[in-house]
Amino acid sequence: MTHILAVDQGTTSSRAIVFRADLSIAAVAQEEFPQHYPASGWVEHDPEDLWRTTVSTMREALARAGIGAGAVAAIGITNQRETTVVWERSTGRAIHNAIVWQDRRTAETCARLKAEGHEPMVAARTGLLLDPYFSGTKVAWILDRVPGARQRAEAGELAFGTVDSFLLWRMTGGAVHATDATNASRTLLYDIHRGAWDEDLCRLIGVPMAMLPEVRDSAADFGTTISDLVDRPLPIRGIAGDQQAATVGQACFSPGMAKATYGTGCFALLNTGATPVASKNRLLTTIAYQLDGKRTYALEGAIFVAGAAVQWLRDGLGLIAEAAETGALAATADPHQDVYLVPAFVGLGAPYWDADARGALYGLTRGTTKREMARAALESVGYQTRDLIEAMHGDWAGSADTVLRVDGGMTASDWTMQFLADMLDAPVDRPKVMETTALGAAYLAGLASGVLPEPGVFAATWALDRRFVPHLDAATRDRKWAGWKRAVGRTLS
Ligand code: G3P
Repeated sequence: MTHILAVDQGTTSSRAIVFRADLSIAAVAQEEFPQHYPASGWVEHDPEDLWRTTVSTMREALARAGIGAGAVAAIGITNQRETTVVWERSTGRAIHNAIVWQDRRTAETCARLKAEGHEPMVAARTGLLLDPYFSGTKVAWILDRVPGARQRAEAGELAFGTVDSFLLWRMTGGAVHATDATNASRTLLYDIHRGAWDEDLCRLIGVPMAMLPEVRDSAADFGTTISDLVDRPLPIRGIAGDQQAATVGQACFSPGMAKATYGTGCFALLNTGATPVASKNRLLTTIAYQLDGKRTYALEGAIFVAGAAVQWLRDGLGLIAEAAETGALAATADPHQDVYLVPAFVGLGAPYWDADARGALYGLTRGTTKREMARAALESVGYQTRDLIEAMHGDWAGSADTVLRVDGGMTASDWTMQFLADMLDAPVDRPKVMETTALGAAYLAGLASGVLPEPGVFAATWALDRRFVPHLDAATRDRKWAGWKRAVGRTLS
């Protein structure tokens, strides 16, 4: 048994990656699935699509690797976080589409709970804010809208889970209803200090405790797959939310280490060790991973639009044919034009948390071309990351010397990474292995099954592809940064 199979169920696609025992990649399979937008600000996935693409990519990846399941020591699952599924225990069928993390439909509920003064208590226990981003209010919405669902949930007939938990249930044929601490920490229902579901929060938000999964370590025994999933039952030994899995994959195991993953959005996590640091700057406090019952915490900043700004240039405006063109355009933009894009397409995340803000472009002149637009889109990613890192510095002195480790699609752009280093005025490290999310899930599964070494040994295998060192002069950096702050200030609702 020389391989580990990582399942990465993300927002736009499901992926399966087969890792060899030395954690090199043997095969990858990926499948996109439809997004559903039933109303403005609503985003749903059909849980059957999540399941179907997970199963088909698992099988495909094994076939491409040319191995049978007999060669696999364990499965690790990582997933889009917060996305909410409610299903029947008797059939495993979801009673409603999954409500995706980006979905804003519970904004009013969150605003009401905030107006009633509940946010300080919620933040103190969960490390989160009252925002529709998290699972709790999405569960309550389903229970209130699907006829009979609330009574059935109270009677124990329905189960709630984030996507990991739903997939685990299906993979084990309904034998295991569990999740890991990182996913639990994104629900608004979990006390991250006690490491337990919180009765008061469940009552406040309206989620019956009978429907909650059992919470386990991120590297743990999550049961065994049913026999017809792949050609032989396989143990499931690791689960973590995708951003936490990337933190593990980037080997950010020591306090003060941080990573930022650039996908549709960007999520930066700073390891704060055994101490949960409460943010004064509207960052989130979350569980980075839980091993041997010990929680390691992180400060997290979430930006909703990063790569999505480039997708917008391509699909919305038709300014480019491929995302990869953006860097070359930006490099030839007019240095005398200060064009700013505030990509608040779905509101602004940390540290602003303004659900009603919408995107804006500033500084356009008759001379503005797609080059300056491309630069503004890439620069918005650097500015937003600096917003997060400054908030982290403000919250925790232990982050003063942090070197940011980056991963995700956008980090392939040297121009963007250089601008990021320039804006942060600090080095930015891009690793050789870009599949950090899947790597983290594989590592957790390998650790729990005893085929991979303890974190310190794994951390030593992390290898640098390129370090981006800041070289922009201070005056230009300050001028550009002041321009960004003005642009955001004018965009807030
Ligand atoms: O919190 C949401 C995050 O986990 C989504 O990640 O990579 O699926 O867009 P991704």
